[in-house]
Order: sequence, then C-alpha cells, then structure tokens
Amino acid sequence: ATDEENVGNVKRKLGKLFEQSLRTVASDVPDVEPSIVPCTAKFGDYQCNNAMRLFSQIKGKGTEFNNPNAVGQAIMKNLPQSEIIESSSVAGPGFVNVVISKNWISKTIQAMLINGIEKWAPRLAVKRAVVDFSSPNIAKEMHVGHLRSTIIGDALARMFEFSNVDVLRRNHVGDWGTQFGMLIEYLFENYPNWEDVGETAIGDLQAFYKASKQRFDSDAAFKERAQQAVVRLQGGESKYRKAWSQICEISRKEFDRVYQRLGVQLEEKGESFYNPHIPGVIKALTDLGLVEESKGARVIFVEKVNIPLIVVKSDGGYNYASTDLTALWYRLNEEKAEWIIYVTDVGQQQHFEMVFKAAKRAGWLPASENAYPKASHVGFGLVLGEDGKRFRTRSTEVVRLVDLLDEAKARSKAALIERGKAEQWTEQELEQTAEAVGYGAVKYADLKNNRLTNYTFDFDQMLNDKGNTAVYLLYAHARICSIIRKSGKDIEELKKTGTVVLDHEGERELGLHLLQFSEVVEEACNNLLPNVVCEYLYNLSEIFTKKFYSNCQVVGSKEETSRLLLCEATAIVMRKCFYLLGIVPVYKI
Ligand code: ARG
Repeated sequence: ATDEENVGNVKRKLGKLFEQSLRTVASDVPDVEPSIVPCTAKFGDYQCNNAMRLFSQIKGKGTEFNNPNAVGQAIMKNLPQSEIIESSSVAGPGFVNVVISKNWISKTIQAMLINGIEKWAPRLAVKRAVVDFSSPNIAKEMHVGHLRSTIIGDALARMFEFSNVDVLRRNHVGDWGTQFGMLIEYLFENYPNWEDVGETAIGDLQAFYKASKQRFDSDAAFKERAQQAVVRLQGGESKYRKAWSQICEISRKEFDRVYQRLGVQLEEKGESFYNPHIPGVIKALTDLGLVEESKGARVIFVEKVNIPLIVVKSDGGYNYASTDLTALWYRLNEEKAEWIIYVTDVGQQQHFEMVFKAAKRAGWLPASENAYPKASHVGFGLVLGEDGKRFRTRSTEVVRLVDLLDEAKARSKAALIERGKAEQWTEQELEQTAEAVGYGAVKYADLKNNRLTNYTFDFDQMLNDKGNTAVYLLYAHARICSIIRKSGKDIEELKKTGTVVLDHEGERELGLHLLQFSEVVEEACNNLLPNVVCEYLYNLSEIFTKKFYSNCQVVGSKEETSRLLLCEATAIVMRKCFYLLGIVPVYKI
C-alpha cells in the first residue's frame, strides 16, 4: 500500500513529519528515530519524545541549544506544514504535543466508510509467515492448553492475514512418537480384522490409548513387541504404516470437529512430515561443526543454556528437537517464511530458545533480534480452575475441549431464552447466536489477558453481560446496529452523500479512537499480542457509550447524518476487531 492509501496510521504519518523536522534540528546526529506516542496528559493527542535524548547527545558539542525545552521548540518550529496537525505546543523538557486536525479525522473516517477498512490494514516487514499453532498429539485428547494455542494462534494468523501477509497456518501434530508402537500393537492384538473395522473398533481414541498403555506397562512381552513395532513403522513397513495412518485419521476427524466449531483453519504438517529431511539436516549441522558427542548422544551446545540440545538420542533415534530443527530449516528454505511463530505453553520456552540459538549458530537465522528472517516463541500461561489450581474436572484428569464448548453454548442459549428470545427468534437464530456468544466468550476470556499470565477459566465471569467480556461487546455492537436500523435511513446512501462532523468533544474522541485502529493492530502484530486488540475494542465500546452516545443524541438530532455515520464506522471497526479475534458478530440482541 502506498502512503496515500494507508491513511489510517496516524502514528506513522506523524512519524514522517517529525522525521523531517528532526533531520533539520539534529543534522549531526545520524539515524534519529522519531519516538511518537499518544499523549498521556491532556496537552494534545500525540507527543514526540525525542528532545531530551537528543539534547544529551548534542550538549557540549557546540550546540546552540541550552536545554531540552529549546530542542523541543526547534523540533516544533521545523515541522513541515501538514493538514494532519491542528496545533502544537512544547511542554516541560521538550515534549512536543500535537493536536490532530478535526477535519483530517473526519476526512479519514469518510474515506474508510467509502473505501473499506482494508485500507487501514497494518504494513508489516514480512511477506510470508508461518504460524505453528494448536498442534495436539495424536491419540491423546486435546486439552485446554491446546485450546489456548488454537485461539491465540488463530488470532495471530488472522491479524497477519489482514495485514496482507501470506500466512502458512501449520498444525504440527505429534504423529510420530513412540506411543504409536504400543497403539499399533494393541490394535493388531485385539482387532485381527482391524483393516475393516479399525475406525469403529477404536472409536474413542483416548480410551484406546489408556487401554494400550495399561497393557504396555503390565506386560513385558507386549512392551517388547510395541518397541519393535516402532522400528518397523519407522522403517516404513506397509502394514505398520497403514495402521498408523488409520489411527491418525481417527484423531484428525476429532480435531477437525473442534476446529470447525471454533471457525479455525489449519493445515496439518505433522512431525512425521519432516522425518525424511532429518538426516540431511543433522548432517549439515555436523558438517558445520556444531554437533558434539555427549553421554552417547549427539548434541548442540548453545549460549547461556547449561544443558545441550539433544539432536540424536543415544539409541540413534530422533526426538522432538531433531524434528523442530528440521521443521525450522524447512520453513526457512523450502517455504521461504520470513517470520516463524510458535504458539505453545511457556513450559516449552527453553526448548525453542535452544532451537533458535542452534539455528543462529548454523547461520540460518541472523544474530540480531530485530532482523529477518526471524523465529519467535509465543508462550502462554496456564489455564486455572476457579480454585486457582491447574484446570481439571473432578471426574477426569484433563478437561475435554468439546465439553467446554458444549457448556459455553448451552449457558449462552439459556441466557437468551431467559431474555425471551425463544419466542422472538427462529430456532436457527437462537442456535447461531448461542454459538457466536458462547464460543466468542471463551475466546475473548483467553485473549484479553496478556498471554503470559495464567488465567482462570470461569463461565460465570466470561458470560457476564457487563464488564470486559465478549458478551458485553457483542451486545454493544448489536445495539449500534439497531440504532442505525431504527433510524430508517439508508446507511449506504449516507456514506456516499453525508459528511462526518466532529464538533462535540464526544464525537471527536470517538473519531480519534477509530483512527487509532490501524496503529494498534500493527503494534499487536509486531509484538505478537492479541490482547492489545481486545483492549482497543473494549475502549472503543466504552468511548462510544460513555463519551459519545450518552452525550450526543443520534436519531432525530440535527447532526443525525454525521452521527449515524459515526455509529456505522464504530460498528465496522468493532466487527473487524471481532474478526481478528476469531469472534463471530451478532446483529440482534
Ligand atoms: N505437540 C506439541 C504439544 O502438544 C506442540 C507442538 C508445537 N510445535 C512445535 N513445532 N514444536 O505440546
């Protein structure tokens, strides 16, 4: 996108102006990056914070400036003429505050209404990214940790896609572990005609896993056979491959049901996919002199970690790390990804740290954190139960994902029925709304926290229609839609003919916040933090209600057209935020 098209990003626009001014003021200091942030105090809308640091760099070097404030004054004076800035002032030690022009805000919002919010998409430094997320293990139930990975990873993928990045959504399923020997052997033993009845026989894969594990732990001969089965599977024997793929297929179907309910797209490239490439990658690393012998295993040592990364086990087999090194190599070289993002619990942080450092030693990744290609681990905290301990149910060890989704839906449906919706709506409307609200609530409760903190899974809290919840936000959006509907005006027509006027303080504040959408999403992408989008969305809803709607009459006022357009712009931005978070909006409540 050209600068002209990317009119939504206020921060960048201001940055360009200040860059010019800084170049004049600090002609001797190379590479001064403008530091522009929204104002904390009410002196303006944005402030430029460069003066203080700049002064310390030039003082004593024959500068004409006596103090940071004088530097700030000069920065302000040298700002190029621009329609964006209404006025500017200098405060304290040189902070340059600017007030954004009201007319420019209106013009930009009007352009968005006509050209679409896609024009406000962030601009990122990469063209292609891999997001490795969800990634459950075959034959084991998906648990809440995988739910978090799925929700956070999907939000990141959506944010990047919106920013015109080509995203490879990778499901790195655990489909190649030693557990397959035991599963396959158990299948052969109990279902001689497994090829015909396998799927129905296995049925509940988790129960099947448990039973075979029990057999494995209690019978030495079985254990022996299971271990041989792994070797035969990995050697490519067709009967074993067939049984393996049958088991994977059953798991896949179960996973897919969850993804479908959550509206999540993923492309499976499991651990097994990288297997044929491992020997070549290990050889390349060995040729580079990175691989050492340690206690019979082959390992790579990396900086500042006192345990080595084991890349070939002492029995000659490969492990999680061999696969991840190979997957990283593949993503960089075969898939040409410039940013590779891994979404797992923080417990795996050290694993990824070591893999990335090994890749840096190998020269696959640049040493600098800010250069591309880049690999990032997106870690997240635990899901806690209401008792503050790791989330579990009384009956079973782990919480089944599908049960959570069922309950979220059932509870939101019950709430809708209580509000009399069963009489007003069709069954289909009721179902769809219950799903949108229920699943949306689960997703939002997860995404709104900084991902590194643990969060408490609490249905009552997440389904509350007050406070910072998806329910509150979805209802707020629906209410805005109903204001527009009830006005009886053709909003598409108004977009073409009407103008946005921001004379009331509430209108102006809403307008400015709408404009900040672009820079907020860009920041969320660059820092891999979906909660930044949640916070923005919640503030938008609060500003709409408390600053705008409660002070500015919409329908029937003389400013009706402009205010309806502000309602519409708010609804559009809210919907885009919902979309980025993987939440389906509702239009009626
Ligand atoms: N299967 C792993 C687990 O359940 C997550 C895999 C994450 N991705 C990766 N490339 N290691 O913990």
